[in-house]
Amino acid sequence: MFFMPLLTTNKLESFYGDFQALFGIDFEIQQGEIVAMIGANGAGKSTFLKTVCGLLKAGLDAIVFDGEPIGGVAPGKIVQRGIAMVPEGRRLFPSLSVEENLLMGAYAKRTGPWNLDAVYTLFPILKERHRSPATALSGGQQQMAAIGRALMSNPKLLICDEISLGLAPIVVKEIYDALPRICSDGMTAIIVEQDVGVAQKVSSRLYCLQEGKVTLAGSSKDVTREQISKAYFGV
Ligand SMILES: Nc1ncnc2c1ncn2[C@@H]1O[C@H](COP(=O)(O)OP(=O)(O)O)[C@@H](O)[C@H]1O
Ligand SMILES: [Mg+2]
Repeated sequence: MFFMPLLTTNKLESFYGDFQALFGIDFEIQQGEIVAMIGANGAGKSTFLKTVCGLLKAGLDAIVFDGEPIGGVAPGKIVQRGIAMVPEGRRLFPSLSVEENLLMGAYAKRTGPWNLDAVYTLFPILKERHRSPATALSGGQQQMAAIGRALMSNPKLLICDEISLGLAPIVVKEIYDALPRICSDGMTAIIVEQDVGVAQKVSSRLYCLQEGKVTLAGSSKDVTREQISKAYFGV
């Protein structure tokens, strides 16, 4: 059987004006995999995710998704093709209710298992609070709403940028406990995570970035602490 990764990047570079943030990132993820991306602040993790989602320019062939080159394709078109991001800082629409925020995620009109009912089954607290303004939710609940909004587009690939940031450990656990349910239908996920222990636990493979380059790629359970700290800090 021909085996094709769901997403590959080939020597991917990314820039903010004249400033180069990514230097030749080779990355791949198979359908159904959960891959973590770790690295210090400023390593380029969010830049990588934003470039994959079309928010930053890339060469057409530097990103291949589901067999098609998508580098530099507009963000709205990328959502329609099946990539959804939970951005750093959640970015909910503050003037909208929880339910309205979730419905905003469905604008791409992709079909699949995710709809309001499925999101409310995954995170029952969102059903209880569906009429509340997004700003009235706790940090953990806001994160659940941001994840739910991304799922509403029925993506093939879910990308999560630091979903545990600023949340208490018990809330982080609650959110990551939902991940196997999210992925049970064959969903694929890239998880950017500052907490290396959490990243190793939830993923099958991980990549470490440092100063815009991949410094480690391997099986999450096999990489050693020494390999990780070397890849993280370059010491
Ligand atoms: N909007 C921006 N404009 C200019 N430089 C940026 C911008 N966002 C990030 N950078 C720079 O790009 C590099 C990578 O940042 P980022 O991808 O946010 O790192 P991470 O998510 O790993 O913390 C850093 O040097 C950061 O200062
Ligand atoms: Mg970041």
